[in-house]
Amino acid sequence: MSLHVLSVASEAYPLIKTGGLADVAGALPGALAPHGVAMTTLLPAYPAVVHSLGKAKGKVMHRYADLLGVEARLVRHRLGALELILLDAPALFARDGGPYSDRNGAEWPDNWRRFAALGRAAADLADGLVPDLSFDLVHAHDWQAAMAPAYMKFTGAGRTPSLVTIHNLAFQGRFGADIFPRLGLPAEAFSIHGVEYFGGVGFLKAGLQTTSAITTVSPTYADEIRDPEFGMGLEGLVSARRDVVSGIVNGIDTEVWNPASDPHLAAPYALSSLSKRVANRRAVESAFDLTEGDGPIFCVVSRLTWQKGMDVLADVADSLVGMGARLALLGSGDPALEAAFMAAAGRHPGRIGVRIGYDEPLSHLMQAGADAILIPSRFEPCGLTQLYGLRYGCVPVVARTGGLADTVIDANEAALAARVATGFQFHGVTHDAVIRALQRAVAAFAQPKVWASLQKQGMKADFSWGRSGQLYADLYHRLTAA
Ligand code: ADP
Ligand code: GLC
Repeated sequence: MSLHVLSVASEAYPLIKTGGLADVAGALPGALAPHGVAMTTLLPAYPAVVHSLGKAKGKVMHRYADLLGVEARLVRHRLGALELILLDAPALFARDGGPYSDRNGAEWPDNWRRFAALGRAAADLADGLVPDLSFDLVHAHDWQAAMAPAYMKFTGAGRTPSLVTIHNLAFQGRFGADIFPRLGLPAEAFSIHGVEYFGGVGFLKAGLQTTSAITTVSPTYADEIRDPEFGMGLEGLVSARRDVVSGIVNGIDTEVWNPASDPHLAAPYALSSLSKRVANRRAVESAFDLTEGDGPIFCVVSRLTWQKGMDVLADVADSLVGMGARLALLGSGDPALEAAFMAAAGRHPGRIGVRIGYDEPLSHLMQAGADAILIPSRFEPCGLTQLYGLRYGCVPVVARTGGLADTVIDANEAALAARVATGFQFHGVTHDAVIRALQRAVAAFAQPKVWASLQKQGMKADFSWGRSGQLYADLYHRLTAA
């Protein structure tokens, strides 16, 4: 039986992206299609999205005179394999800046209204708002979409099952109780069984409480979030609902991320022509003003935040250079961390190169030209850059947490002997642990056969959406049958 799923997300590649959520929301429809699931993605009509769609007009499916206080339209579009419904509400989304914050990084003060409106529209669609358009299931991603199941439960007919996927429990969408009367929910929704959370309103909490099932983006993170250390206040709820919580590791789009055909590379290559990587290595050296050298080039492509362990990495940058290695870093985020890396680059010209900003083409080149990618995350629900690294022969050096633990095979002696190792893991994001992992990687790099084996094992591993697409499809079928 074929299913029609409404996926609700606040970003989706290639229309709008701030992180891995966009990659996943953009890839899911293609991942599910082979399993008999048709997916339509509901997305806010930010200026970037409208711009990406160019002149295409789209088809207006519905006009709201008053969606949480603003005028709005639902407009149907198609982009390649993506079937889209845009929530076009100019008062909420037609503004300069990012999807969640202004140009200076300050969160939009009306984020509660912007993303409650998204959830409300999803619930309305699930309830048959548009004639001849029906959905078997609503799949909501992260707090920005998590009000969908709450509206479905409290204002809808409650017939359609739903799924909430947690991409990052650190972002929960918490607001004061004062917004509650403006959400258009019945009074009973302000309770432990609804949207109430520590006296205020919690969007992610509301979704996790009211949805039929919950997934996270790796099995290890699904376990970790039952502990206070990772659960960030929601561990009790996640534990209580453990029977409906599971982890499905993200896949990657193997067409967008294919070293043999990637248009952003200086030289395409494959497993059988790894030596061609050298041209990309030169291009990375030149992009980051690195002097040539014998040691490995480590790269970082990341949000510069505490989650990603970037403070610890900045602290050990001098040690990295002391080992004869170089560092190419692309990222943006916390201004103090940006400054720390700029300072490190100033101390080590030719050995550390830093680009503050967001640069999709450069991120591809780095995976193709650097020798290893560093991901010292304190927590990582899945992580995609280690998967891109594996596919590109850029050996991941990662903290053993969440999806990093699930996707990288540490080069311990047993794994090396069995020729299954694909990278380096370390336990605990401390200076000592990161330095020891760097030392192990530098030592392995000095043994060309060992290094080539790590690269090849990683490149052979299958991180396409095949298996995870099947797992989502199976889950959708179970939920719609129930
Ligand atoms: P998160 O979503 O937590 O930031 P992921 O590893 O899941 O982490 O996804 C990050 C995504 O964003 C990857 O596709 C990565 O290549 C991309 N990315 C992160 N920072 C940058 C940057 N500065 N420039 C280009 N791409 C970036
Ligand atoms: C979040 C997580 C990251 C994950 C991504 C996509 O941004 O931080 O680990 O890969 O979502 O699921």
